[in-house]
Amino acid sequence: MDNRPIGVFDSGMGGLTAVVELQKVLPREKIVYFGDTGRVPYGTKSPEILKKYTQQDIDFLKTKNVKMILAACGTVSSAAGEIGEHCGVLYSGVLKPTAAAAIRETRNGRIGVIGTPATIRSGAYERLLKTFRPEAEIFSKACPLFVPLVENRHTKKEDPLVAETLKEYLSGIREMKIDTLILGCTHYPLLAEAIGDFMGQGVTLINSGREAARFCARVLRERSLLCEEGEGEARYYVSDSVDSFRENARACLGAPVDGPVEWVAIDDF
Ligand code: DGL
Repeated sequence: MDNRPIGVFDSGMGGLTAVVELQKVLPREKIVYFGDTGRVPYGTKSPEILKKYTQQDIDFLKTKNVKMILAACGTVSSAAGEIGEHCGVLYSGVLKPTAAAAIRETRNGRIGVIGTPATIRSGAYERLLKTFRPEAEIFSKACPLFVPLVENRHTKKEDPLVAETLKEYLSGIREMKIDTLILGCTHYPLLAEAIGDFMGQGVTLINSGREAARFCARVLRERSLLCEEGEGEARYYVSDSVDSFRENARACLGAPVDGPVEWVAIDDF
């Protein structure tokens, strides 16, 4: 048993989709979340900058005495995952559990991947999916405007901005007869209803935050590192306005964040 918290981070609110899933599968765990709201989006940044940010985010979480770190960010996992692998704390990104879930799910071997420009540019999902199943056909598309839409609370399918952006990014991939679509950015589950509606019933959406959370639960269970004392709790840290984070999170998740939110000077790490 290990009663220390699990550290989770993302560029902003997207990682909350993983927190919600972690709380479902491991309700007794303590969670420390960092959302780098002062520097979001990550997905349009260069690999050098992403590595620097990832190192700082992880160094901050390590000061919270975490037993495991989850990079709940497709961009970090794809473009700076090695920083996490060598951080000296049990670590997972979203990439492997998400790709594995897509391979389990697909029937026709035609898989779509949508993510930030950095994620798609890295080719990490494509490589991994091909390792798992060499004959799979992968169709990737960068969707740079999805993160700003979510961060600005445009998530509903009736929203004209959402409808137009979906059409722009997903029309091509919809023609490809995929049966599985990886939401390769943890912000995208907040658009899942709209994306699912656009893609149609025959396409299964893979939620990277959910798959990563389930994977963390499995790892902690296998290593006998689960928390076995007290109630679950969460603390949130952000690098920009605490009030904006609260408001945006409430709007996107449909419920207030369930713990204290504090500002952190991430540049000091
Ligand atoms: N949630 C992050 C991801 O999974 C968003 C990256 C961004 O800030 O652009 O990629």
